[in-house]
Amino acid sequence: MEDLIKKIKNIKSQALKKIKKAKNQKELEEVWRNVLGRKNGDLNNILKSIKDLPKDKRPKIGALANKTKSEIEKEVQKQKNSLSQKSSQTSTNFDPTLPSKSLNYGHLNPLTKVKRKVENIFSSMGYTIEQGPELEKDYYNFEALNIPKGHPARDSQDTFFIKDHPNLVMRTQTSAAQVRIMEKQNPPFRCIVPGRCFRHEARDASHEHTFFQVEGMVIDKNISVANLIYTLKSFLSIFFKKEAKVRLRPGFFPFTEPSFELDFNCPFCQGKGCSVCQQTGWIELIPCGMVHPNVLKSGNINSKKWNGFAFGLGMDRLAMLQYKIHDIRLFRKGDLRFVKQF
Ligand code: DAH
Repeated sequence: MEDLIKKIKNIKSQALKKIKKAKNQKELEEVWRNVLGRKNGDLNNILKSIKDLPKDKRPKIGALANKTKSEIEKEVQKQKNSLSQKSSQTSTNFDPTLPSKSLNYGHLNPLTKVKRKVENIFSSMGYTIEQGPELEKDYYNFEALNIPKGHPARDSQDTFFIKDHPNLVMRTQTSAAQVRIMEKQNPPFRCIVPGRCFRHEARDASHEHTFFQVEGMVIDKNISVANLIYTLKSFLSIFFKKEAKVRLRPGFFPFTEPSFELDFNCPFCQGKGCSVCQQTGWIELIPCGMVHPNVLKSGNINSKKWNGFAFGLGMDRLAMLQYKIHDIRLFRKGDLRFVKQF
C-alpha cells in the first residue's frame, strides 16, 4: 500500500518535470502517453489495477490516482498553451502595428478604354450596341455582303478557316454583323457593333492577325451622304475633343455604293503636318459608304423604302492615335511595361 502511494507520487513528480521540459507538442504528447496513455501509461496502469486491490484500500488509492491524473492533465494543457503561443510569436513574427502591404490595382487595357469611349459617344447619339459571333458563317462575312465566292475582294481578307467546316470563318470584319442585325430588327435602326476580327496577315507595326473594329450602321428613310459626314464628323470632334475637319475620297467596298474613305485633319498638328500624319496633315481613318441595295436585300429590307449608311472604325488605329502608340502589336503582347502606362 505504502509502496503504491510512493509510486504514484513519484510518477507525478517525474511527469511534472518532464512536462515543464517539453520543448514542443510532440515531446509533450510523449510524456502524456507514457503516463496516461491507454496502453501502458504508468498511471493508467495503476488506475486499471485499482479494482484488484483489497476493498478497503481502493478509495484512498483511487482518490490519489485520480487527483494525480487530473493534476497532470492540467499541467499538460498549460504547457500546450504556452508552447503554441510561443510558436505563433516566433514563426510568423506578426506585428499588428505595421502598415499593411499596398495592393496592386488592376487597370484596363487601352483598347478597352477606347471601346468604352466609342460606345458612350454613339450611345449618346441614340445608337444601340450590338454583337455578332467571332466564328462566323461564310455567308454573313462575305456572301450576304455582296462578296460571292471567287470575288476578288476575298483576296484581301484571307482569314482563318475551320478544319472540316468550309462554311465557317473567323470573321474578317464586323460588317459581318450587318445582315444578322437586319434579319432581327425592323428599320429604322442605328447601331454599332464593336468586336474582334481576324485576318491571315503578315504582322508588322500596323498589321495584326487579330484586331478590333467597330461597325456602325444606320437604316432609315431618306438617309444621305450628308448624314454620314455629319455623324462621323461629330464623333471625331467629341472623341478628340477638337472640332474635326473631314474629307471624303472615293473608295471601294462591295457592300456600299457609293463607297468612301473618310480622312480627318490631324488633331495633333491641326493639319500643319507632323510625324503622326506623316506630314500630310490628314489621317486616313474611316472606310464608309451608303449600304448597297443587295445587302439590304440579303437582310430582307425593301431598298425602295429604306436606305442607310455604314462605316467601319479600326479601334486599334483609334487607340494608337489617341495614345500615340506606334506599333499595333503592343496591344496584345502582354508586356506589363506597356500596359501599365495607361
Ligand atoms: N469592313 C471593312 C473592312 O474591314 C470596312 C468597312 C468599309 C466597313 C465600309 C463598312 C463600310 O461598314 O461601309 O475593310
